[in-house]
Order: sequence, then C-alpha cells, then structure tokens
Amino acid sequence: MLRMHGRDLTIDKPHAPATARNREPILAELRTVLAGRRRVLEIGSGTGEHAVHFAAALPQLIWQCSDLPENLPGISTWLKDAALPNTPPPLALDVTADTWPAARYDAVFSANTLHIMGWEAVVTMFRRLPEVLEPDAVLAVYGPFHRDGAATSASNAAFDAQLRARDPRMGVRDAAAVDVLAAAAGLRLIADIAMPSSNALRVWKSGEVRP
Ligand SMILES: C[S@@+](CC[C@H](N)C(=O)[O-])C[C@H]1O[C@@H](n2cnc3c(N)ncnc32)[C@H](O)[C@@H]1O
Repeated sequence: MLRMHGRDLTIDKPHAPATARNREPILAELRTVLAGRRRVLEIGSGTGEHAVHFAAALPQLIWQCSDLPENLPGISTWLKDAALPNTPPPLALDVTADTWPAARYDAVFSANTLHIMGWEAVVTMFRRLPEVLEPDAVLAVYGPFHRDGAATSASNAAFDAQLRARDPRMGVRDAAAVDVLAAAAGLRLIADIAMPSSNALRVWKSGEVRP
C-alpha cells in the first residue's frame, strides 16, 4: 500500500465539479440555518467535498459525514487531507438499512440526495429521521424540487427526464410530497430558500406535533 500523511494513495480522491459551484451559495445560507447548532449529521456526503468546505467555515460545528459504505474511502480521503478538528470519521449510513447511527444531532443536512434515492428510500429516510434528531433540531435539504408536480425550469425538467431514463426509481421530488413525509415525522417547514440553478434549500424544524 502506498501511503502519504496516513492516507492510502491507491484510493482515488473523488471530485464532484458541482460542489465547487454550489458550495458558496449553500454555505451563505447554512451560516444562518445552522447558527447555534453543535452537531450536524450529513446524509449522502458523496465525495466529502461539501463537508470539508462547510466544516472549515463553521468550526463551531461537529460535521458528521455519512454515506453508503462504498463511498466512505473517498470521503475519508478528503477528511484526512483537510485534517480538520471537527470532522469525525464518516459513518456508513444507508437510509434504508436497519441500523442508523445511535447518536442524536441538532441538525441534519443533505444535498442532492432525494432525487437519487428511490421514493421508497426517501419515505424510509423521513420515517427514520426522528431517531437521530434532538428536540428542536433542524433538517436542511438542498437540491432541485418540483412544485405542484411540475418542474420549475427547463433544466430541471431535462434533469428529471435524464434521471428517470437512467433509473426509473430516481427523479426530482415534488416539494409538497416531501412536506407530507416531513409532517408525518414531526417536522415543520420553516424556510424555503431559492438557490442558483433552479435549486432550493428547504429547512424543517423538529419537535412539532404530528398531524
Ligand atoms: C448526487 S450524490 C450527492 C452527493 C453530495 N451530497 C453532493 O451534493 O455532492 C447522491 C448521494 O446520495 C447517496 N445515497 C444514495 N442512496 C442512498 C441511501 N439509500 N442512503 C444514503 N445515501 C444514499 C449516494 O451514495 C450519493 O453520495
């Protein structure tokens, strides 16, 4: 094994170009959305690039990455190279798996995941979320959303078609349908922030009475 600074150089360092474009607008909103928070669980960390950017800029937070097991080596590579004090090793978390983290968090963040997971997985994620949320936690989800069953831009319509052609389980989710899942999990929408490129950052708060 070829190692440098404790990192296995045989593991490729993954890179998602979109993160370089969207990380600053997301961070600008997270500074407010995550103000006063201490422990963030990120679901579907992907490459880990968002995590190192946000954790470096928000040092008061512990930023806990998670993703499917196969993505953890790449995330670990980014975390080890950044060597931040507030990014513990990533957790294996498939939202459809029986085992979820035992810890609780006062914030959960997830970017560009709901349209990749099948709808059943999205349903399961919202059903299980209360297990990891402290009272008065916030959930912040970034990505494209349809409104009233329709795409909000030609680019989102094309993206949705592309996803569904790739895998019929994928697809841009309707904001209202996600809100129904959130409400059933005791989460109330508190912010719906328009973001560049027809994306949104949607924020819910826990501790609400279930309908
Ligand atoms: C398009 S990537 C987004 C990655 C990163 N958040 C970003 O914005 O660049 C979607 C992520 O969702 C993760 N994912 C898909 N299905 C999942 C599941 N069932 N449980 C947890 N994560 C899942 C994938 O592994 C992948 O990292």
